[in-house]
Amino acid sequence: MDLTWIESLLLALIISSLIFSTWNSIYRRRNLPPGPTPLPIVGNVLHIKRGEIVKSLMEFREKYGSVYTVYFGHYPIVVLCGYQTVKEALVDRAEEFGGRGRLPTLDSFLKSHGVVFANGSRWKDLRRFSLTILRNFGMGKKTIEERIQEEAHFLMAEIKSQKEQFIDPSRYLVQGVSNVICSIVFGDRFEYSNDSFQKLLRLFSIVFQDMSSVCGQLQDMLPAIMYFVPGPHKRINKSLEKLNNFILERIKMNKESLDPNSPRDYIDCFLIKQQQEKDNPNFDNENMLMTILNLFFAGTETVSSTLRHGLMILMKYPEIQAKLHAEIHQVIGESRIPNIDDRSKMPYMDAVIHEIQRFSDILPLNVPHATTKDVTFKGYTIPKGTDIYPLLCTVLRDPEKLACPSKFDPNNFLDNNGCFKKNDVFMPFSAGKRVCLGEGLARMELFIFFTTILQNFTLKPETQLTDEDIKPLMAGFANVPKFYRISFVPRI
Ligand code: HEM
Repeated sequence: MDLTWIESLLLALIISSLIFSTWNSIYRRRNLPPGPTPLPIVGNVLHIKRGEIVKSLMEFREKYGSVYTVYFGHYPIVVLCGYQTVKEALVDRAEEFGGRGRLPTLDSFLKSHGVVFANGSRWKDLRRFSLTILRNFGMGKKTIEERIQEEAHFLMAEIKSQKEQFIDPSRYLVQGVSNVICSIVFGDRFEYSNDSFQKLLRLFSIVFQDMSSVCGQLQDMLPAIMYFVPGPHKRINKSLEKLNNFILERIKMNKESLDPNSPRDYIDCFLIKQQQEKDNPNFDNENMLMTILNLFFAGTETVSSTLRHGLMILMKYPEIQAKLHAEIHQVIGESRIPNIDDRSKMPYMDAVIHEIQRFSDILPLNVPHATTKDVTFKGYTIPKGTDIYPLLCTVLRDPEKLACPSKFDPNNFLDNNGCFKKNDVFMPFSAGKRVCLGEGLARMELFIFFTTILQNFTLKPETQLTDEDIKPLMAGFANVPKFYRISFVPRI
């Protein structure tokens, strides 16, 4: 076959650019941290036990140390382990490690829109804006505290109406927590009897489980292959679509009744911002929709899963529950509504909630980060744009900082005099530039909800709980706590 000179030139160009890109990628990766030897196409996926990504990544640490590389397909992932290493990257080198990495289970839907998965100026604009609005609507101030107290009151009434029957508490907890973020984002709370809203909220839990399932884990590692494989991961986009339809309806309602001089909620503030910054694509409709979805999702599932797991742990340890009841009796009494100022006078409650968050380890792998430039770290060279997994599970269970990392023990956060003691390992919200945007809100919710529940009820298990029961149902993107039944026995 004779080639024309143009075809020969094109062929030569294609071959040389292929050689260059292969050489460039090998050259740029030549000084990545060591790790298990990857296979062609699948990388290290076969080294990861089926459905046990968290466990497998923790085991690699024993062989390769606190910084190592694994390959998901042909993508290198630099994994960071232990308090010291994670802190050095996320806090001391915050700018360089502050990019957002790939998370294929969500990327195909979010397409880098919305604050959680954005990068660069889009992320900066959306983060600054969201933090300001959450503060204006009371995050860290009295008004949000009042909203949580009000919601805790409704939650108590709902639980009381169940009359000590054994119930699955998850739907009540999800609804209570969701109502707090809903009142900020949509300016409204929803009734516990609203079945269509309950159905919508169930989607959060389903997405969390689908992402953490065996197939969800494989999709995050080998998206191109898992695209063709049926399984629960295929439901994720459909569930998110339904949530987005609800949000779109709310945005439409807000648009129709917007008064730019009197914003009622986060959506109103976003619509006003759009008018002020017409030429800024970071505040376009897609980023509005996805940021609201981010807040709605992140603000609901994380806190309610922590509450669900926490109540189960407290049933397993009645002696801890009894100490909490005594502290509530002493500091708040039986009739006054708990408030956030009580926290500093209740070191035991504070320590128990910290320990619940440490033990629950809701997002064990963190949300993936990425390097924002070529980085030299601990003698290795990590090219710009490399995915970074700063494993929160290895910080929350750091054996260098805890005597018995796998045991539930509030003493991890108490000194010898019973006063609250900070512990470096407490990093459930991550750290650095990408630290959880809702940390203040979440911590306030956890304190007021746990304290109000325990002021009102003794938690009774259906059967004697074991160490196995308080282990997660699934451990992938999230540690999903097991579902169970509980009887709330009134104390007042
Ligand atoms: C127990 C409750 C919560 C936990 C354990 C938690 C944990 C986390 C973690 C680990 C991250 C990733 C941080 C990183 O990339 O380094 C994150 C990010 C985020 N969280 Fe939370 N979160 C909680 C509650 C909330 C709430 C209530 C909201 C709602 C306001 C929220 C909104 C966000 C947002 C918007 C981000 C993305 C931040 C960014 O990329 O700049 N979270 N959270």
